Amino acid sequence: MTPEKIALIRTSFDAVAPMADQAAALFYSLLFEADPAVKPLFKTDLKDQGAKLMKMIGVAVNNLHDLNTLVPVLQSLGKRHVDYGVEDSHYATVGACLLKTLEKGLGDAFTPETREAWAEAYGLMASVMIEAANTVEA
Ligand code: HEM
Repeated sequence: MTPEKIALIRTSFDAVAPMADQAAALFYSLLFEADPAVKPLFKTDLKDQGAKLMKMIGVAVNNLHDLNTLVPVLQSLGKRHVDYGVEDSHYATVGACLLKTLEKGLGDAFTPETREAWAEAYGLMASVMIEAANTVEA
């Protein structure tokens, strides 16, 4: 990813951070509306889960410049998601809901360039997670 795109992601994520709880709540309501079948996969309290999700997105956002550190973290996360019952096709739905959440949370600050940068970052994270999920270790 270009340094410009990484900067756009960081700035916009910082703007969402103070409203992380509301953003997470909005994200789950959009997700369960988009695909009600994923709801039963979430067993823990959604507030805790939302906090973990935002924290992990924060870790990813801060390490986009350092893929050597980020990739192994995402690979383990992707493998754990298999145990949570997550399927490859769910990643596209989650990505769309994440973009919608950012759009609602950020309003006009969510410019087309910022959307593009987030779409690329999420696509990168999702592809590493999906690939790890489908890799059987010898
Ligand atoms: C970039 C994409 C994603 C990130 C960064 C992410 C992040 C996380 C994190 C940090 C956790 C906490 C547990 C752990 O660390 O193992 C978690 C759990 C979970 N995630 Fe994700 N996730 C992503 C994609 C998805 C997708 C596509 C789904 C599909 C619906 C999903 C469903 C779940 C479920 C069901 C749990 C466990 C919840 C529970 O135990 O109640 N995640 N995720």
